Amino acid sequence: MRSKRHRQEREEYMLKEQKKVDQGIFDTQTMVYLSKFFNKGIVSKLEFIIARGKEADLYLADSGKSDVVNGEDVVVLKFFRIEASAFLKMSKYIIGDPRFSRQIGKSRKFIINTWCKKEFGNLRIASIAGVHVPRPYMFNGNIIAMEFIGDEGKPAPAMKDVILEDPETIEDLIIEGIRKMYIRKLVHGDVSEFNILIRKGIPYFIDFGQAVVTRHPNANEFLVRDVKNTINYFWKNYKVKKDFDEVYKYIVSDSSDM
Ligand SMILES: Nc1ncnc2c1ncn2[C@@H]1O[C@H](COP(=O)(O)OP(=O)(O)O)[C@@H](O)[C@H]1O
Ligand SMILES: [Mg+2]
Repeated sequence: MRSKRHRQEREEYMLKEQKKVDQGIFDTQTMVYLSKFFNKGIVSKLEFIIARGKEADLYLADSGKSDVVNGEDVVVLKFFRIEASAFLKMSKYIIGDPRFSRQIGKSRKFIINTWCKKEFGNLRIASIAGVHVPRPYMFNGNIIAMEFIGDEGKPAPAMKDVILEDPETIEDLIIEGIRKMYIRKLVHGDVSEFNILIRKGIPYFIDFGQAVVTRHPNANEFLVRDVKNTINYFWKNYKVKKDFDEVYKYIVSDSSDM
């Protein structure tokens, strides 16, 4: 059993780490990782924190001169916290993924960096599949640079925070997105009103760390959950009715027409 003192020390440590992040002070390792984004011309200046997620802090940054950023003025930097409490959850997802199973038993830093690399790879697959997601620019260590989904420095709202004008179209676009990913053998695994941003009437999927390839033993379970979450959300909030079996069949059906 852990002693009280141990717990207290740990809490103090976490508080201190949190403060550093609040003040925009990164640990040395993160600074080293970050410098590469400057050197490659992806980033020229950090602006401010736009969100604190479950396992990461997201910053808005001015972009650099690199062609990779497609002429955008700003980029998002997602910093995975080494002290992330979601660490155990991460290991679980990585363990079942055949792409990463050889890397188990490594250090916490290694797991976080692998998680980061996985999110980047997943974003890339989805992006190439033509799904609306932030375009991934670069990753290094525990940091990902990606397209900013927002307007004039203001992040686009999550679906849970908006009243949709045309919910049926949005739901269809989400289902189409899930299908396009499935065709590229990817299942998001955490589709919800929290992880979909709405910009100019288009739903953008974000947060791909937990996404898995369809070979993953839990892929079907995650897909079923994603579809159910979507259908339930639109039924509860907009009384749009869709049949699970029909939608599911459509997603996994033969896709040679694409
Ligand atoms: N590319 C992006 N553009 C704008 N805002 C973003 C972007 N990615 C994430 N966000 C914001 O940051 C929050 C947390 O991001 P997310 O990737 O879901 O992190 P976590 O894995 O910690 O949940 C989101 O809810 C959203 O508000
Ligand atoms: Mg999230």
